[in-house]
Amino acid sequence: MIRQFNKIESVKGTLILPGDKSISHRAVMLSSIADGESKIYNCLLSEDVLATINAFRELGIKIDIEDNNITVWGNGFSGLTEPANNLFMGNSGTTTRLIAGILAAQNFQTVLTGDKSLSSRPIKRIITPLRQMHANISGENNCLPLTIKPSESLRSIQYKLPLASAQVKSCILLAGLYLDEETVVVENFITRDHTERMLGLKVVEDGDSKKIYSSINYFPSATEYFIPSDISTSAFFMVLALLTKNSEITLKNISLNETRTGVIDILVAMGANIESENVETINGEQRGDLIIKSSDLINVEIPEELVPNIIDEIPILTIAGIFGEGHFEIKNAKELRTKESDRINSICRNLEKLGLDIEEYDDGYLISGEIKNKNVSFNSFGDHRIAMSFAILSSIVGCGCSIENFDCVNVSNPNFIDQLNSIVV
Ligand code: S3P
Repeated sequence: MIRQFNKIESVKGTLILPGDKSISHRAVMLSSIADGESKIYNCLLSEDVLATINAFRELGIKIDIEDNNITVWGNGFSGLTEPANNLFMGNSGTTTRLIAGILAAQNFQTVLTGDKSLSSRPIKRIITPLRQMHANISGENNCLPLTIKPSESLRSIQYKLPLASAQVKSCILLAGLYLDEETVVVENFITRDHTERMLGLKVVEDGDSKKIYSSINYFPSATEYFIPSDISTSAFFMVLALLTKNSEITLKNISLNETRTGVIDILVAMGANIESENVETINGEQRGDLIIKSSDLINVEIPEELVPNIIDEIPILTIAGIFGEGHFEIKNAKELRTKESDRINSICRNLEKLGLDIEEYDDGYLISGEIKNKNVSFNSFGDHRIAMSFAILSSIVGCGCSIENFDCVNVSNPNFIDQLNSIVV
């Protein structure tokens, strides 16, 4: 579906955004392997999280959905059962990489499949450590479909992450839950730490690196999860409020986990007026309300160590940068090429259409110059974050820009358009 965006002059009001995607996936997974009834409040029910829910239903877990709250009746340590069908991961990299860790420890075979985009995304990054754990796992050309067979001798490992990936880290830690001996993941880059927090894992900081320990001692129990709203989803509205005149919005109950708040730090360094209030910690995760007011932005250098923290927000930060003073540059972000689309390519190809000057690097890009063409049709490249970033840009440019295949926003935020319309003045 092609969607056209009219100019938005100003936004005002309060938004209650859906639950955090990373935490929702993990809450469903941990509840499904725990023994007994868990409740998940404010769970994101987008296509990605539904892929996780459906996979666990196929694995024999009863899961009821009522509005945004779900009840999961977990069957405990050996409670998953062999699925009748292949498990379809849809577009969801997080479901695939995390569930593989759990499935590697089961005594039945599973086959994971995905949509076209997911089937071309790298999976070797989890195959390598899982094979070191003696998991019986194979994917042709290191891509989906992935076949996971029972392992005779799953064993714990110490694994130094070769790349900044919370999905790879979580995959190994989840497999480690099924072993008596400690599995240790060593991380030299700070990536999102929801898995560690939600399982209460032992974490030891050692200079610039972190050691995270997992074992059967941390196997989850049935519990209640209160999921904060997603900071990645909120970033689109933050940038819209900052870039439009006389705007002020409040975003309620946003996840403020410090491994995710780099987007706020960068926007504030650029001159953004963003304040937080009602900050509290529930289920080990910080959350609070954010108040965002129109601001003049100036581009800043983005430090390499912050890149994993802002990896999902780089598309919308780029849009903020285009309207800020100076040029926008991102480097050390080659991982962008492995996301739902090759985001370096998606962003550069779309921005070229506006007549901006683009220098594309292997690991980022430099954007400068002025917008020359204002009535442009953008390609979403089937990537939800590209679609929403260019929706915000189109609403600011306001010359009838449109986005092809806009429906892909359902992957993380099916109600994006309603939320947008509710704050337009
Ligand atoms: C996620 C980790 C990140 C992120 C993705 C969600 C997670 O991926 O981009 O949207 O929930 O662990 P990588 O681990 O591949 O960087």
